[in-house]
Amino acid sequence: MAIPTSPKGPNLNAAAVVPAAGRGERLGPGAPKALRDLGGVPILVHAVRVLARSRAVGRVVVVAPADGVAEVRALLADALGERENAVLVVVPGGATRQESVRAGLAALPDDVDVVLVHDAARPLVPVDVVDAVARTVAEGAEAVVPAVPLADTVKQVGAPAVPGAPEPVLSTPDRSTLRAVQTPQGFRRDVLDRVHTKAVAEGVDATDDAGLVERFGGRVVVVPGHEEAFKVTRPLDLVLAEAVLARRRSRDEF
Ligand code: CTP
Ligand code: MG
Repeated sequence: MAIPTSPKGPNLNAAAVVPAAGRGERLGPGAPKALRDLGGVPILVHAVRVLARSRAVGRVVVVAPADGVAEVRALLADALGERENAVLVVVPGGATRQESVRAGLAALPDDVDVVLVHDAARPLVPVDVVDAVARTVAEGAEAVVPAVPLADTVKQVGAPAVPGAPEPVLSTPDRSTLRAVQTPQGFRRDVLDRVHTKAVAEGVDATDDAGLVERFGGRVVVVPGHEEAFKVTRPLDLVLAEAVLARRRSRDEF
């Protein structure tokens, strides 16, 4: 398989898979997280817009809740422009994020050779991060993750001596060697297909796609992520996302 050499060159054929089939339980009661409002449009619309804005991305596969495919199709058709809709496909997701990503991969055309997997729940990722991930795969990496240094020190803990007792601290990993990982994560398509197939065969579950590549002996590299690429997970994240959006709007950053 030819690995393209430039994100703007004629060889790059990248697609994005957007897992958006989660319930958003940690965000509290309400619509599925991807469909919650952020600054007047659903979270998912922000995520799809930024991917479609990247010149590296020629196709976007949104993986919707299985019982909400028609609703998501209609909502995106309404909110997005003609150019964005032209590159869009919506497919039903699965019970876990990994299953949803696999459903998205199955919907990719044969000629796609680079895949970016991007959580719908990261609506404010700057397009520069998307481009940097795509470019790094185009330049030859098989798997790329955007990441940022940690603000907090991290402790590894064990089980409490008796249920309800305080957890004992076991160790403190050197923070300078740790990174918080974001999306989009970028992959050579053949590599991502292979690790997802292996994961099913071996019953492996990972919280991110790069984790599967690591698990099966592949090489994953890091590019700089961005503080605005945080995942909307809990109610406070939505407050922060609204504030980031308001700041962008006041600066005309669109
Ligand atoms: N996701 C998915 N299919 C699932 C579970 C999650 O496509 N079965 C997607 C979510 O929609 C989200 C991304 O994976 O865009 C990251 O997952 P997470 O932040 O955990 O979202 P939820 O699973 O929706 O949230 P929660 O875990 O709080 O229920
Ligand atoms: Mg989840």
